[in-house]
Amino acid sequence: MFVTHLECSLTGERYDAGKAQGLSTAGKPLLVRYDLEALRGKITRKTFEEREPTMWKWRELLPLPDGAPPVSLGEPQTPIISLDRTGARAGASKLLVKDEGRLPTGSFKARGLVMAVSMGKALGIKHMAMPTNGNAGAALAAYATSCGIKTTIFCPADTPEVNVSEIELQGATVYRVNGLIDDCGKIVGEGKAKAGWFDTSTLKEPYRIEGKKTMGLELAEQLGWDVPDVIFYPTGGGTGLIGMWKAFAELEAIGFIGKKRPRMVAVQAAGCAPMVRAFEAGTEHAPRWEDAHTIASGIRVPQAVGDFLILRAVRESKGFAIAVTDEKISAALNEVAREEGLLLCPEGAATYAAYRQSLDDGRVAKSDRVMLFNCATGLKYPLPPVTRTLDRFKPIDYASL
Ligand SMILES: Cc1ncc(COP(=O)(O)O)c(C=O)c1O
Repeated sequence: MFVTHLECSLTGERYDAGKAQGLSTAGKPLLVRYDLEALRGKITRKTFEEREPTMWKWRELLPLPDGAPPVSLGEPQTPIISLDRTGARAGASKLLVKDEGRLPTGSFKARGLVMAVSMGKALGIKHMAMPTNGNAGAALAAYATSCGIKTTIFCPADTPEVNVSEIELQGATVYRVNGLIDDCGKIVGEGKAKAGWFDTSTLKEPYRIEGKKTMGLELAEQLGWDVPDVIFYPTGGGTGLIGMWKAFAELEAIGFIGKKRPRMVAVQAAGCAPMVRAFEAGTEHAPRWEDAHTIASGIRVPQAVGDFLILRAVRESKGFAIAVTDEKISAALNEVAREEGLLLCPEGAATYAAYRQSLDDGRVAKSDRVMLFNCATGLKYPLPPVTRTLDRFKPIDYASL
């Protein structure tokens, strides 16, 4: 184990990594710090390349204490898929999708939650609670149940049915709340104070970000220890974007990649775009977005505790934040499914829509190697009905089918 301490992402104040922690005293996320200098001499790229392609191959860069087993449901490395047809039509030289829908519970939330729950188990936590837009709650339920931790989950009333059902079926107690995810977050905060729940909200504990970080570690190795020119990430709480930015810094510190970084693009929905508004206003924080609405429920996050970390990564990388309409998200989902046979989730489709918009407005060049993130399997979302029928008792005009 190479963890040295936890660090406040705002003030740099140090915290003990050996016990359960929430936010820093400044109310900001804690980041896990490692002895990267020691790791640099001990491990080579080949060590990782030769290991089984799962999330756990990165164990030296993860916080699990020596001897503590991960609470695993089998977390495979996810594939990078080339969108040749749609990419070529847009004139792009290389358009890639990292397909996170292959993970347990069908979304990338598995990466963060398997890490948080594994650490929770190692640190003796008995009851975890969380606000969710759906996928995170499903992943928490699955992992916590698999190791006997009690779980209570709160989601907005209009969370997709499949998410609410899978949460309950996987052993958690789930409540639909008449509000948005930050309203649910307030209930969890009060439960923490009054009933001693462990608050597993995005960035309010230090370990989900470490799990999500593996997306960056993994894609760098998959690209031959290189990074793409641009990453489009559907941004709600931003754990993955912040995590990947941290991953690239750690990979450089241990000598696996150079100084090159992708431009990080935070993709949001036009009906809920606090990061885009703050990016354009040049501010460090992103105030709450009122009346948030979008079909991409995973990115319907009106206010994020890690706002300054998202904006910092986007700006340091010379990237940008961009909003796309629900109409463009639906059209993108249709286009990629019909042309590539790849069923994106609405949030993943938002990254494709944002990419096309950025090509049009010149913020991304056709020659850029671009990586989109599809964060969940499209099968978790309501699909359009098919009304075409065939009567097998009537003559069939095969040539017209
Ligand atoms: C499918 C999907 N995409 C994107 C996100 C946003 O992820 P993050 O919190 O890392 O910004 C979520 C979060 O719920 C999600 O479920």
